[in-house]
Amino acid sequence: MNQLSVRHLTGIRGLTENDVQLIFQAAKEFKEVINRPIKKVPSLRDLTIANLFFENSTRTRLSFELAEKRLSADVVNFSAGSSSVSKGETLVDTVNNILAMKVDLVVMRHPHPGASQFLANKVDTIVVNAGDGTHEHPTQALLDAFSLQEKLGDLSNKNVAIVGDIRHSRVALSNILCLKLLGANVRVCGPKTLIPKGINSMGVDVSHNLQETLEWCDVANMLRIQLERQEKGTVPYFPSLREYAMTFGLNKDRLDKLDHEITILHPGPINRGVEITSDVADGNHSIILNQVENGVAIRMAVLYLLASKT
Ligand code: CP
Repeated sequence: MNQLSVRHLTGIRGLTENDVQLIFQAAKEFKEVINRPIKKVPSLRDLTIANLFFENSTRTRLSFELAEKRLSADVVNFSAGSSSVSKGETLVDTVNNILAMKVDLVVMRHPHPGASQFLANKVDTIVVNAGDGTHEHPTQALLDAFSLQEKLGDLSNKNVAIVGDIRHSRVALSNILCLKLLGANVRVCGPKTLIPKGINSMGVDVSHNLQETLEWCDVANMLRIQLERQEKGTVPYFPSLREYAMTFGLNKDRLDKLDHEITILHPGPINRGVEITSDVADGNHSIILNQVENGVAIRMAVLYLLASKT
């Protein structure tokens, strides 16, 4: 099959391994394009894309916008703070008004889990999820796996640890689904309070011991503590950020104790000195900026494949 099996990209759930490999193949070609002196192709010249951001973003928003412009699409950007959402307009009304202006495809980040699928069910356009609350962040998982495949080759039977705030992380869920599709062994590691009960039913191991996990893994994906998603006024999930950093933070001492090299990922934004120290984030095991570079190629691939589906 040389077409995606889906009309929308609302999550990794619903994609097949063939879909992921199609996206990676197209991303490889688009990566070559964006490294040329003229970084543009006319593939989406006749399309208008709206980027709807109801939640803050640096990497994803800029990366989608660059991907769209590199494909020669017309682009409009919307952020909730400066829109009529603050006057009470619903999501569906907002999007239907934008579509009336002849927009062909919508990229949306929203704080509510399931918002992208809800929108895809309600409006007549292609929807791409740029992160929906604690649910999924499919393009992040695709760019993470693509970056790993570039560095390590075939991911089947590679050991990948996802460390940190699994409970509040859309990156964790999408990464687990994508890595399992590609045959990797996945382990989540963090404090008991930040790992959802029953997560092992997704075929992942659970550990609360970072050093033992680092000894096991080929790759460590270090996630941020999402303080903004933790319920205010309730008992905190761990005693202090300092204690979290001492128990679950990745630093050079921990890496020096290993008898093998590991590859380090971080989706950003980084809280330096909490989940990862600066020397490790900027060190030669880290592929964090490769992830950001690959984000543009992956998003070009997703937009191109969805738009060209007949
Ligand atoms: N990785 C990621 O989603 O970053 P932003 O929140 O800056 O888009």
